[in-house]
Amino acid sequence: MKKLHIEKTFKSFCLCKNEKYTPVIKDFLENPDIAFEIPDDFLLKNGNSATIVRYKIDGNDLVIKRYNMKTKIHAVRRAFKETRANHSWHYAHILQNKGINTPNPVAMKEKRWGPFRNKAYFICEYIKGPTAFNYFQDPQYNDNDKSIMAKQIIEMFDMLKSSMLSHGDMKATNIIIHDNKPFLLDLDSMIARTSKGKFISAWGKDIKRFMRNWEYLPEIGQLFKQLQD
Ligand SMILES: Nc1ncnc2c1ncn2[C@@H]1O[C@H](COP(=O)(O)OP(=O)(O)O)[C@@H](O)[C@H]1O
Ligand SMILES: [Mg+2]
Repeated sequence: MKKLHIEKTFKSFCLCKNEKYTPVIKDFLENPDIAFEIPDDFLLKNGNSATIVRYKIDGNDLVIKRYNMKTKIHAVRRAFKETRANHSWHYAHILQNKGINTPNPVAMKEKRWGPFRNKAYFICEYIKGPTAFNYFQDPQYNDNDKSIMAKQIIEMFDMLKSSMLSHGDMKATNIIIHDNKPFLLDLDSMIARTSKGKFISAWGKDIKRFMRNWEYLPEIGQLFKQLQD
């Protein structure tokens, strides 16, 4: 059976997991901007280039990440490129195929004008839990919990490395601890490398960025020391 609902028109390109494609999500995908008209409590981030909200559809707790066009020049430059929504969609599947946890992707939509891409939306499941940045500073978790969690994160790094996947923005806020496991998100800059040389360089940057999270928190940094070996 086909796993994906695919819809392409002159003005849009849409992908949705078949099992999630209900009349309600179909309607929602016609106008995803509606999710951004809700009270600020559901706003997860209002950045320049992306706005992120938590939004319920059909009883499913979801996150909608809308990739905005900052300026007209930005829009023109991006019009011919793969959208970050499609990129995130693609890499969320790659991660899950490799057994690396990431929030379940549900749908993605690109607004188009023929071949030109504009605003785009990536929709995935909301996962409850602290970011790794908060988790390791939270006294409710003891040293043993933290050491086990750090080992799981190191394992996640090992899996990324063996698949030559670089993340490109290894902030500790891009890892959420859910169900006692680390989940990797914000896949906008993830790349599966084919050249070993390029991968090693990108990998070094990922590790450097990740360790920079703990620049002023050396006891936490110590838990990840082996990443630098
Ligand atoms: N699927 C999700 N479940 C729960 N929280 C999420 C999810 N996606 C994003 N968030 C929260 O929103 C924040 C920003 O999302 P992210 O994709 O990292 O955006 P940005 O590119 O602006 O950094 C994350 O650090 C996290 O706290
Ligand atoms: Mg982020």
